[in-house]
Amino acid sequence: MLKRTHYCEEPRETDIGRTVAVSGWVANWRDHGGVVFIDLRDRTGIVQVVFNPEENPEMHTRASKLRSESCISVSGEVSQRPEGMENPDLPTGMVEIVAGELEVHNVSEPPPFDVDNPGDVSLEARLSYRFIDLRRPEISKIFQARHRIFQVFRRFFDENGFLEVETPYLTKSTPEGARDFLVPSRLSPGSFYALPQSPQLFKQTLMVGGIDRYFQIVKCFRDEDVRASRQPEFTQLDLEMSFVDEDDIMEMTERAMAAVFEQVLDREISLPLPTMTFADAFERFGTDAPDLRFGMELKDISAVVADCEFRVFKNAVDEGGCVRGICVPGGAKMTRGEIDGLVEWVKQFNLPGLAWFKLEENGPSGGVAKFFSDAEIGAIRQKFDARTGSLFLFAAARRQKTHLPLAQLRCHAAAKMGMIPEDEFELCWVVDAPAFERVEESGHLTFPHHPFTTPYPEDVGLLEEEPTRARTKSYDLVLNGVELGGGSVRISDPELQMKIFSILGYNQEEVEERFGFLMRALRHGAPPHAGIALGLDRVVGKLLGIEDIRETIAFPKTQRGMCMLTKAPTRVDDQQLKDLGIALRESE
Ligand code: AMO
Ligand code: AMP
Repeated sequence: MLKRTHYCEEPRETDIGRTVAVSGWVANWRDHGGVVFIDLRDRTGIVQVVFNPEENPEMHTRASKLRSESCISVSGEVSQRPEGMENPDLPTGMVEIVAGELEVHNVSEPPPFDVDNPGDVSLEARLSYRFIDLRRPEISKIFQARHRIFQVFRRFFDENGFLEVETPYLTKSTPEGARDFLVPSRLSPGSFYALPQSPQLFKQTLMVGGIDRYFQIVKCFRDEDVRASRQPEFTQLDLEMSFVDEDDIMEMTERAMAAVFEQVLDREISLPLPTMTFADAFERFGTDAPDLRFGMELKDISAVVADCEFRVFKNAVDEGGCVRGICVPGGAKMTRGEIDGLVEWVKQFNLPGLAWFKLEENGPSGGVAKFFSDAEIGAIRQKFDARTGSLFLFAAARRQKTHLPLAQLRCHAAAKMGMIPEDEFELCWVVDAPAFERVEESGHLTFPHHPFTTPYPEDVGLLEEEPTRARTKSYDLVLNGVELGGGSVRISDPELQMKIFSILGYNQEEVEERFGFLMRALRHGAPPHAGIALGLDRVVGKLLGIEDIRETIAFPKTQRGMCMLTKAPTRVDDQQLKDLGIALRESE
């Protein structure tokens, strides 16, 4: 076999006269008056190879039969390209390889799309032929960056005394708020493993076992709806430390992130990162994952409009709701059609509409402006510190219902106005989430993090009477409006842990059945411990400016949870089901 001496992107003018061997795929094939030109591509880039008919007719004949995406190795002398034939857009554009030897490994069938110019080929189509898609240098670069990010994290945690310990995939349900993927057991018919939603309880157990500092780059599985930021299986950087509190975890995580920014993007981030409470984040941004690259914070004008003439506002306040909104600087330029577009757009977040008016040279105008007195307008203006030329947009509803639409509207309007600096990274911590949240429809209690998060000692008293007001020692890492990670100080007192379970409605027996091993561990010398997990697919996406995390995963799932390459999930044969003691019911 012709052994490679260079990657395709390596030969330069300094190599002229040297014999090199390159291997890769035929990106482009041209015949100019009998001379065959091939652009050969590997994961680094492209180099031009020339086959002259006079020099080696037999090889030239083989080269002229090559087509796109065939896999070959070539050796030959690096030469200066003839004058006028240089390509300044390619790093190798001043040279070419004059072929001396050619080895054809595999002639490709015609590829289903043009690899170097896929145009608007759908992601699904690309994923069905991921082996071809991955040959594109820009796709390959994503995985090279992903690899580098992983290595920086690994090195960082190794250097800081963490042990990488693996935890099982065939296990028991770990509650992180999603559905479990179940795996039937053949040896215990009727019983199931759950794939871990996270290694949460194992890492806590490792702390009780004295491992002291643990990390793992680990797959997690959650059966939830696929979105741009969610995959059913995804990768966490998971860590846990003993004898520490929240400051230690936040500091360690920030330093790890700073190392990644520096070593992968060559950018400095200034530490410590800013911190904001969960309550403030909702008050100011309507979300626990605020985008801090621009202002336009939400303001509550309920007090100003409690007695105003606009019924929608007055009624909302009278019924115990609120009126909140944003002020878009320069937004008065928007046309009526554009504003109506915003009002329609926001309806997808369960808000019946938006009320708006503009602040123009000669005063308030349009929309609901006519309903307000000068004093009310003045007070609204002051609240937002608004300038002439602004557009106000308001939502009137129960406070809980205004968060999501306004948070989304804030980002949508900022993007429309070109207010978001694309090249900026704004990281922050959002801390002190409540121990419990109430599900609107059912009134059920759930948890924003997980039930192993410790409440502040001074809030433990609230747990029974006002569980949604008890704050926890928790921290989420947010970057440009996306939650990258979350963690907390854990409960290490078995009685407090039992109390949390009972507030969630588990009785002693259920706790024993589901979490007996944790309770036993907590009763056998559990150290104080805390940790965090970062979603690595999101970290990679955010650092590279990629919105859809599927682009950062080699073989991701589609919206319908399908692997386009293998077409999993698939039916299995009857014998397999029989072995597992499973009978399928015909679905209605
Ligand atoms: P949490 O549930 O917040 O915490 O998950 C941590 C991070 O994992 C990422 N993530 C996801 N990424 C892609 N697809 C998904 N479906 C998905 N779900 C979560 C997010 C998230 O911030 N055990 C705790 C951590 C701890 O307390 O130490 C946990 O799993 O970036
Ligand atoms: P309506 O009375 O439904 O015709 O609405 C009058 C105006 O108020 C329209 O511009 C609506 O978009 C707006 N509006 C309706 N419901 C709300 C709401 N909950 N919050 C803010 N504005 C609303």
